[in-house]
Amino acid sequence: MGVNLRGRNFLKLLDFTPAEIRYLLDLSKNFKDLKRTGTPHRYLEGKNIVLLFEKTSTRTRCSFEVAGMDLGMGVTYLDPGSSQMGKKESIADTARVLGRMYDGIEYRGFSQELVTELANYAGIPVWNGLTDQFHPTQMLADLLTIEEKLGYLKGVNFVYMGDARNNMGNSLMVACAKMGLNFTACAPKELWPAEDLVKECKKIAKENGCTVTLTEDVKKGTKNADVIYTDIWVSMGEPDSVWAERIKLLKPYQVNKAVMDNAKDTAIFMHCLPSFHDTKTTIGAEIAKKFKIKEMEVTDEVFESKKSVVFDEAENRMHTIKAVMYATLK
Ligand code: CP
Ligand code: NVA
Repeated sequence: MGVNLRGRNFLKLLDFTPAEIRYLLDLSKNFKDLKRTGTPHRYLEGKNIVLLFEKTSTRTRCSFEVAGMDLGMGVTYLDPGSSQMGKKESIADTARVLGRMYDGIEYRGFSQELVTELANYAGIPVWNGLTDQFHPTQMLADLLTIEEKLGYLKGVNFVYMGDARNNMGNSLMVACAKMGLNFTACAPKELWPAEDLVKECKKIAKENGCTVTLTEDVKKGTKNADVIYTDIWVSMGEPDSVWAERIKLLKPYQVNKAVMDNAKDTAIFMHCLPSFHDTKTTIGAEIAKKFKIKEMEVTDEVFESKKSVVFDEAENRMHTIKAVMYATLK
């Protein structure tokens, strides 16, 4: 039976079958071709979407805006603090108001429960643009990038280093299990994903002929890796007070030349961005001064190397988000 995602929410990859994810990746490739050849694709002309951000963003916001405009839609952006939501108006009431005016809602915020509640009341598709728990639109861009660079997904040895229980660690474990990639979280035990999610992913992985592994051993964990992936050590919404402990825990899990040399010769480096690979940002400079560490989750050498595909990955956010909006609104 064909895949039909019309009217669906996009809240987490756990809600989607491998066939549905495959469909979205193939659709993304089509949209990428249309963009590259300058072929107009204003397929959703007359529709309007609203982008609700309770945390800051560059890639996700711009991807939704450009993708929406390319598809011919009107786009409203509400930045953190500029709507009534949460302060003077409940999520449920906001959802019911926006649902009367728009055709789709993107939401970036804190708990996964909030985006779920928004979806329960809106009556129109809601797309999760990142919560503390999951970042599903990033997953499609990452899978598309891996397939473009390595030529396949099933059987890829994927290693995630760093805070493995944040939104990226959780989401990548789910994405790999769904699409047949062998997932390894290489991280200190304190930062491993929640046991119930690991259990669920191991079950999904078994159905799809792949594995989920958790290890503290960098040498063993990164051996034979096809993809080395990392993310910032302190996520949006976490207090500054966690920096000291996080640096101590994660310094041994920094992606550096030794890590890349231990992986396959053909291995690629990925990161959802933004990244602290130098001191050219305010926070990067502050941390350097306070903790005497100039590079954090990845060294500048690896970030700038030929193995790094981070900007192709960032571009793919736009093509994949376009596919999600088209599939759910068409
Ligand atoms: N990767 C990602 O979501 O980036 P932004 O925070 O800039 O949207
Ligand atoms: N874990 C990061 C991802 C940013 C795209 C954060 O939540 O800040």
